[in-house]
Amino acid sequence: MAKAQYQGVKMKGVVLAGGLGTRLHPLTLITNKHLLPVYNKPMILYPLETLRRSGITDIMIVTGREHAGHFMNFLGSGKQYGVKCSFAIQDTNNGGIADALRYAEDFSQGQAVAVILGDNIFEQDFKKDIESFTSGAKVFFKHMEKPHRFGVPVFDASKKRIIRIEEKPKKPKSKYAQTGFYVYDNSIFKIINNLKPSPRGELEITEANNLYLKKGELSYSVIKGLWSDAGTFESLHKVSIEIAKRAV
Ligand code: DAU
Repeated sequence: MAKAQYQGVKMKGVVLAGGLGTRLHPLTLITNKHLLPVYNKPMILYPLETLRRSGITDIMIVTGREHAGHFMNFLGSGKQYGVKCSFAIQDTNNGGIADALRYAEDFSQGQAVAVILGDNIFEQDFKKDIESFTSGAKVFFKHMEKPHRFGVPVFDASKKRIIRIEEKPKKPKSKYAQTGFYVYDNSIFKIINNLKPSPRGELEITEANNLYLKKGELSYSVIKGLWSDAGTFESLHKVSIEIAKRAV
């Protein structure tokens, strides 16, 4: 898609906040994972803030049926947080990240979208990446000693070109983790519609990224600063401490 098509059009954002959050039982029996506290505020405010700092204010939140009302109750229109919120419900609430994203197709109005996982906390913003985005897809990696819990890129001999991204490999082939921030042109929705469920029964976002890679349309950057997911008790606890330290 030509750059001109995106020029002058403000990119929209999507926060994926569905899933069952089973790793955080019994807390997620009370409310959605993304409304649990990370230090002094509900988790969902961190991805919203990352999008806002990146220049994106028109945002769709995709969540599951359970506790969906809690989001609307808390966020309202989003005005208080400097954004405009729309909401969508993922019927199959553990159909996978790519499945959740398909609910934002109409909202995208044929344009590119910035997508952030609702449990991902970033220190940096993505303003420059969004402003310079033209077509294809862009993913963001963080250097990490043990990235086996994440998507992990496999590099060629030059160590610069990615050959593929492996989802949660037992033996990671690099020391980088794929973070939960992605920028896609509108062909992402066609790509998702052709995905088949993985062995764990989910439509995998990593699979979609690999399809962009095969077409030679995937670019990447390595991010700086704090990054963490908050989907396990350990990561939720750790990231809360890190945020608390920075708040002092
Ligand atoms: O955090 C980064 C990692 O996130 C990436 O490195 C992986 O490549 C990517 O697959 C993902 O891995 P996780 O296993 O950590 O994803 P998880 O199932 O925890 O889902 C992350 C968020 O995505 C979750 O907070 C809400 C949203 N989600 C997830 C599923 C499965 C949905 O909205 N709907 C879903 O059905």
